[in-house]
Amino acid sequence: MLFTLLALAGTVSATALTAAQGYTPTTGAQPRKRLDPLSRRGIDAKRQIVLPSAFRSYLDTVVRAQVQLPAYMYDILWSEDPTQMTTDGIATSGEAYRAAMRNGSSVAVGTCGLLQATPSIAGLSGGSWLVYSLAQSNFPEVQDLVFGENVTGGYSRWNTEYGTLTLYPSTNDTINAEYMNQTVVDITGKYNAGWPVSIVDLLGRSMGRHFLNGTTKTNFFDNDTVHGAGVLFSDLQNVPTFVSRQQPLPIVVADGWSKYPYGPDGGEAQGSQVPPTNIIYEFNAYGVIRQLVAFTPIQYLGTTNESVCVTNFEQAAFIIGSSSDYYAASNSSVCSWITLVNESFTQPDVQLDVALYPNPFQGAGNGSFTEINETYLSIVDGGNDGEAIPIQPLLVKARKVDTLIAIDVNAEANDYAAGGDFIASATRAALFPDAYTFPPIPLNTSTFIAKNLTRRPTFFGCDTPETPLIVYIANGGPPAGQPAVTNTSDDTWTPQLIEAFLDQTFDVATQGITNGTVGARDTEWGSCVACAVVDRERYRQGIARSGVCETCLARYCWS
Ligand SMILES: *[C@@H]1O[C@H](CO)[C@@H](O)[C@H](O)[C@H]1NC(C)=O
Ligand SMILES: *[C@@H]1O[C@H](CO)[C@@H](O)[C@H](O)[C@H]1NC(C)=O
Ligand SMILES: *[C@@H]1O[C@H](CO)[C@@H](O)[C@H](O)[C@H]1NC(C)=O
Ligand SMILES: *[C@@H]1O[C@H](CO)[C@@H](O)[C@H](O)[C@H]1NC(C)=O
Ligand SMILES: *[C@@H]1O[C@H](CO)[C@@H](O)[C@H](O)[C@H]1NC(C)=O
Ligand SMILES: *[C@@H]1O[C@H](CO)[C@@H](O)[C@H](O)[C@H]1NC(C)=O
Ligand SMILES: *[C@@H]1O[C@H](CO)[C@@H](O)[C@H](O)[C@H]1NC(C)=O
Ligand SMILES: *[C@@H]1O[C@H](CO)[C@@H](O)[C@H](O)[C@H]1NC(C)=O
Ligand SMILES: *[C@@H]1O[C@H](CO)[C@@H](O)[C@H](O)[C@H]1NC(C)=O
Ligand SMILES: *[C@@H]1O[C@H](CO)[C@@H](O)[C@H](O)[C@H]1NC(C)=O
Ligand SMILES: *[C@@H]1O[C@H](CO)[C@@H](O)[C@H](O)[C@H]1NC(C)=O
Ligand SMILES: *[C@@H]1O[C@H](CO)[C@@H](O)[C@H](O)[C@H]1NC(C)=O
Repeated sequence: MLFTLLALAGTVSATALTAAQGYTPTTGAQPRKRLDPLSRRGIDAKRQIVLPSAFRSYLDTVVRAQVQLPAYMYDILWSEDPTQMTTDGIATSGEAYRAAMRNGSSVAVGTCGLLQATPSIAGLSGGSWLVYSLAQSNFPEVQDLVFGENVTGGYSRWNTEYGTLTLYPSTNDTINAEYMNQTVVDITGKYNAGWPVSIVDLLGRSMGRHFLNGTTKTNFFDNDTVHGAGVLFSDLQNVPTFVSRQQPLPIVVADGWSKYPYGPDGGEAQGSQVPPTNIIYEFNAYGVIRQLVAFTPIQYLGTTNESVCVTNFEQAAFIIGSSSDYYAASNSSVCSWITLVNESFTQPDVQLDVALYPNPFQGAGNGSFTEINETYLSIVDGGNDGEAIPIQPLLVKARKVDTLIAIDVNAEANDYAAGGDFIASATRAALFPDAYTFPPIPLNTSTFIAKNLTRRPTFFGCDTPETPLIVYIANGGPPAGQPAVTNTSDDTWTPQLIEAFLDQTFDVATQGITNGTVGARDTEWGSCVACAVVDRERYRQGIARSGVCETCLARYCWS
């Protein structure tokens, strides 16, 4: 079959754009349009247009669980007044495929409708694959996304049976060699147009084949298909559920890899982590935000001056590739993909293991911005600063997030979460007290383990109204009586493993605190999440917690 497909290659029609053409940034003379930070406006508009009805249907599903709710819950969730609206956000952590692989129902914490009422969903690394592909395909159920079924408008499915870059996609070395050559051909137009290219461009071409629409199991190795080249991050602005604001604002998080901390010669720091003081970048459908102050419109990413306008730089697969580029923090000198890009292109002064973006923020802001003088921003995996949960953008005080759902699937202890990256988030937030707020949490992983905080959902910040209330759900181990499935960190997945994983993720996210009996669930869990969602607004209205919300918070809050 593969042989047949390769033999068919070369029949590309004269008018169709090749992958290399689709991938090449375009330059033009049109004046650069200055845009406001629309991302904020987008969120605000959503609050006014969609949230009232979304919260109402969310409440309906909570009510159907037949748990008696305090009256204030109805008042808050049924409110027509946007200033009373409670704002929440979801942050999903990264760990390659397993982060991407999350049961759609459990992203909504088993309480159907909350996801639709959420203004933003952030992902980094593998989580960015989930967040972008969900958004691109009009927000289907996760299993429909993975298997490419029942997606309005059609979506070709994920290609999880092939490795990303860690494993070669085929068992046939000839096919692998052709595949590597193809990815090089794909990025040659960008290089020829004068842009630096790195392993992240090759990784992005792999991401395009795995997560963007158009590549299937059977055309994966076909070079007559563009494999997502030319699909732009800003294309999300045209997705129907995005236009109608019925999907959350997808946010992809990546770290700045500044040369600054690594010695006078700016040398590469192999094996090092990004320090927590480094800049975090947020990519959303409207723009790129340099935490905490600067914004640049995403359509013109690549543009650095008023005379030349660059478009088509913001390739979606390149951006999710940037968010999942852990090569700079590993010993990349042994990586055959680095060697490939090094041998294919002559770029003596280019660091090959980071994503390179013309710096739109050059000279902007104050001197504490380490990349202020760089011509190119070096951007790497959003988890390289030790924070696997992309929570920082949602902690920005100006965003006024009341309740945050932090999903932690980081591989720390026996490939399960141990709280370490959540602690890293708290530590970083504390470095920028003017910008972020974070509730008190235990600051060592032994407490997380000893108190089972990674084995059961926990609410943080119940008594600190000036911070967001964080609903922390970690993948700390299998539910009682189940085999270990969700600690898988394979680079390839079978459909059976995907099913088992999605089912177990659902259980982990929806069981609540149980008595440890096989199959046990907290039947009030959905109501408890709803109590967390309305808790800040309840506080602002000066109402005391009561009924199930009082007992839920007593049960789930860490103190
Ligand atoms: C590997 O792929 C090449 C090219 O498609 C083909 O000619 C060859 O027979 C394959 N080898 C094996 C062992 O399948
Ligand atoms: C596809 O690959 C074949 C074999 O490597 C090559 O001859 C052909 O030129 C390629 N076509 C395109 C469009 O890159
Ligand atoms: C996916 O690609 C197919 C074929 O090009 C197209 O018909 C469909 O509209 C696309 N769907 C999405 C969700 O992009
Ligand atoms: C797609 O929808 C059909 C009809 O509702 C259903 O039978 C099928 O199981 C769905 N596929 C998936 C993967 O959910
Ligand atoms: C890959 O490209 C290199 C350099 O252009 C060439 O020498 C080699 O034959 C190509 N390999 C395949 C399998 O196409
Ligand atoms: C403006 O940006 C373009 C594209 O990056 C670059 O080629 C050109 O040299 C820049 N012009 C100035 C005056 O900096
Ligand atoms: C990286 O790998 C090379 C080759 O295996 C080895 O020589 C080198 O010591 C390693 N460097 C680090 C920092 O681990
Ligand atoms: C790239 O190739 C050059 C020339 O062969 C070599 O000196 C350099 O060490 C290589 N760099 C990397 C990162 O492999
Ligand atoms: C940037 O350049 C200016 C002017 O040369 C210098 O004063 C400043 O220290 C530099 N900042 C950084 C972070 O390198
Ligand atoms: C943690 O969970 C284990 C297994 O369910 C249980 O035996 C233990 O008592 C729990 N510890 C705490 C502090 O809740
Ligand atoms: C999530 O798991 C539940 C329970 O196993 C299952 O009913 C549901 O279909 C799963 N959803 C997805 C999206 O896989
Ligand atoms: C544990 O909870 C389940 C329901 O979730 C219940 O059926 C079972 O009796 C409980 N076991 C104990 C020992 O309390």
